[in-house]
Amino acid sequence: MKRIAVLTSGGDAAGMNAAIRAVVRTGLHYGWEVFGVKHGYAGLIAGDFVALGARDVSGIIQHGGTKLGSARCEEFKTQLGRLRALRQLNEREIGALVVIGGDGSQAGSHALSQMGFPVVGIASTIDNDLCGSEITLGVDTALNVALEAIDRLKVTASSHERAFVVEVMGRDCGYLALMAGIAGGAEAIVIPEAETDPEQITTELRAAYERGKSHAIVVVAEGARYNADRLAQYFAEHRERLGFDLRVTKLGHVQRGGTPGLFDRMLGTRLGAAATEYLARGEHGILIGLLRDEIVATPLAEVVAGKKPLDLRLLELARVLAK
Ligand code: ADP
Ligand code: F6P
Repeated sequence: MKRIAVLTSGGDAAGMNAAIRAVVRTGLHYGWEVFGVKHGYAGLIAGDFVALGARDVSGIIQHGGTKLGSARCEEFKTQLGRLRALRQLNEREIGALVVIGGDGSQAGSHALSQMGFPVVGIASTIDNDLCGSEITLGVDTALNVALEAIDRLKVTASSHERAFVVEVMGRDCGYLALMAGIAGGAEAIVIPEAETDPEQITTELRAAYERGKSHAIVVVAEGARYNADRLAQYFAEHRERLGFDLRVTKLGHVQRGGTPGLFDRMLGTRLGAAATEYLARGEHGILIGLLRDEIVATPLAEVVAGKKPLDLRLLELARVLAK
């Protein structure tokens, strides 16, 4: 009988539980024993394993976050840390590992895989900055959370004739800001991938005020040079030219705590099942993701070497639509 383990690593993302459940139940379907590793790579190094049966993953598909717990672990970035992890896996005669996580976690998968251990990654991060998957697990739910917040902020902004700077997560990637900005009908979007002139945004907000708009929303990526704090500081120094009164809202971790929607439950389920199926076929050293609506595998070496492009035509579209 084969033994496999599954862990979640890095920032949690809605749909991780669906993926864990699918790995466990698909593994059981093949007659394997499945172990969960608590708290990502930290738990792997510490030997924090738990046997998972079908009932252990009952009733988790609808929950956000990860039932296994997640962590960031500096020690796993070192060869010694990974050797310790390998020893824990070998002691339990575990033959393969499924890693559910983002770009850092998959760099870890790749490193472990290069040491000869069979690993399959599942593309999961709200940042959507991982090659090998056009959309990663958790993005859709995080965006819907951001949109609900933006819709609500618009209501109060309109009542008071205010501009709101809304900061969304994404680390160095502007995907969340770009999508939330377009779908939220923002007057301006600020992302790390495009140079931002705060003076131009001041002019745009002033023009919106003069056109009679009752509110203005600026969606800002946390990784942009002009993030919420810097932009708000600039606006404060040019207050009289802005027209609108200004408030700032940082959505922060609120975006990570959403209840997984249909898309992420389905994506997590399909990715989890596929990761286990690839292992059953003896394929590893790969990341499972969604490309052109198909669940596909990409070599981890390619995933870690690549940089995912952002379609900047959408930024131009957002400018056109912000009339
Ligand atoms: P995410 O996977 O969501 O992008 P991080 O970038 O914080 O989150 O990475 C999660 C964990 O993956 C790190 O805390 C570390 O344990 C591991 N990791 C990140 N980069 C590497 C690397 N280059 N080599 C080995 N492990 C890594
Ligand atoms: O990678 C996911 C993410 O939510 C980023 O968008 C954000 O910059 C980071 O994690 C926050 O990390 P932490 O939860 O450790 O504060």
